[in-house]
Amino acid sequence: MIEANTINNMDCLDGLAQMPDGCAKLIVADPPYFMGLTHNGQHGQFNDLAVAKPFYRQLAKQLRRILNDHGEFYIFMDWRGCAFYYPIFAEYLPVKNMIVWDKMSGPGNFYNSSHEFILYGCIDPQTKKHARNVWTERGFTSGSIQTDGEKIHPSQKPIALIQRIITDASVPGDLVVDPFAGSCTTAVACIRTGRRYVCFEVSETYAAAGQDRVDKLLAERQARNTKK
Ligand SMILES: C[S@@+](CC[C@H](N)C(=O)[O-])C[C@H]1O[C@@H](n2cnc3c(N)ncnc32)[C@H](O)[C@@H]1O
Repeated sequence: MIEANTINNMDCLDGLAQMPDGCAKLIVADPPYFMGLTHNGQHGQFNDLAVAKPFYRQLAKQLRRILNDHGEFYIFMDWRGCAFYYPIFAEYLPVKNMIVWDKMSGPGNFYNSSHEFILYGCIDPQTKKHARNVWTERGFTSGSIQTDGEKIHPSQKPIALIQRIITDASVPGDLVVDPFAGSCTTAVACIRTGRRYVCFEVSETYAAAGQDRVDKLLAERQARNTKK
């Protein structure tokens, strides 16, 4: 049984299988970026991804199963990942749109990548979202610039971006699930906004670093409350 407000150092498929049907209002998933290729697409082969397909099919099925009747999902991917991820997720989940996240990075070689995609969908077709699908939020750069706290994971997302997703698609007390938690930005955003969370992270190092980040935040909040 997976408890709310926990960071679980395990494979997300094993963890999701232990969660009840319809328990989650929101899924924020940031899977590893396009396996088989380097950051500039020079190595690896598209066919290498065939081995990952059964995993993502199982994942999509589990995500659909744990979402409640008003559930919503946001799945990060870059331009290389879209061709692989979209057909798999769209087979099991009601995809509605693709959000473009403008990371505001500066110019660079081959037109520096300054956007990523976020696949969006909702179970209830009556779900209303009155907004554009282009979002601007400064991301972490490859240098030392920090957006919102320390960078402890190579693909760490800014807290403000995850907070935007959470406030758009859930209310305080709702359960948010992040199957690929990395540095646990989702947990941090949930604590800040009063949502419950379940995070899975397969790397022991990142699960521990994420737990540390959460513990520090909780300690800060506790200290502030005691002072009042
Ligand atoms: C793109 S990163 C997530 C970064 C995160 N959004 C953040 O802000 O730090 C993807 C993470 O998924 C983890 N991961 C990969 N396969 C996994 C699996 N099967 N189950 C759980 N975590 C996994 C990786 O170790 C990596 O830390």
